[in-house]
Amino acid sequence: MADQKNTLIVGASRGLGLGLVETFLKRGWRVTATERSPSQGLAALASPALTVATADIDDDAAVAALHQRLSGQSFDLIFVVAGVATQAHEPLHAVPRDVAAQVYLTNAISPVRFAEAFLDRLSQNGLVAFMSSILGSVGLNEAGGWENYRASKAALNTLARSFEIRHREAGFGVVLMHPGWVRTEMGGADADIDVPTSVTGMTDVLEGHLGQTGCVYVDYTGKTLDW
Ligand SMILES: NC(=O)c1ccc[n+]([C@@H]2O[C@H](COP(=O)([O-])OP(=O)(O)OC[C@H]3O[C@@H](n4cnc5c(N)ncnc54)[C@H](OP(=O)(O)O)[C@@H]3O)[C@@H](O)[C@H]2O)c1
Repeated sequence: MADQKNTLIVGASRGLGLGLVETFLKRGWRVTATERSPSQGLAALASPALTVATADIDDDAAVAALHQRLSGQSFDLIFVVAGVATQAHEPLHAVPRDVAAQVYLTNAISPVRFAEAFLDRLSQNGLVAFMSSILGSVGLNEAGGWENYRASKAALNTLARSFEIRHREAGFGVVLMHPGWVRTEMGGADADIDVPTSVTGMTDVLEGHLGQTGCVYVDYTGKTLDW
């Protein structure tokens, strides 16, 4: 298809990333999905429209190798979904420094560094999306809890805004996405919504944002969130 859209979904072995891959494929997109180790879920989606590649976003050499492997490709949407919630239930002082720092690296630093490395693979007027969380909102933090995870997503929001401002002349858009509270390994069994509800909503929102510029912080229904 000449006008087939092309997306790169980073962190797609399971959970929301895997659900997004399935949804974009169903909607006729070409998809490159990344995993860290072989994913049964991605293997089950095998199709000519799907390319599976390997990358750990915390590993600069692995990101550079992926960038090289995907040379010649141009993506309408690059969505960095990968994230961790290690010891998220513990108050900050109870989380070892190296664990807290690793959460910050994976959730805030690595996604934006990944986007920077792949900017030359983004289509004209393309979209960069980062998986944030409503827990990253400073203004909406009335309940506390998930302290280090919250801070990592707040940092992601701040870094993504600065990234968009720094590249504003380039004409692409940035979406910081809250997927809802979703029943995945991270979200747990008591979460509000299932993966299909979240990924269908996110895909609708992202398709609606294609071609738009600026930086928005929205949820899977398209609602704008307070910073
Ligand atoms: N579930 C929710 O309610 C919820 C709410 C708000 C935000 N989020 C965010 O949504 C994203 C996905 O969450 P999920 O619920 O789908 O969690 P999940 O089921 O735990 O999946 C996490 C995904 O991230 C990948 N990943 C982790 N660290 C990575 C790294 N260094 N490099 C590459 N991939 C890495 C994992 O790969 P492996 O399989 O290799 O570990 C896995 O594919 C996260 O950013 C999370 O913070 C989730």
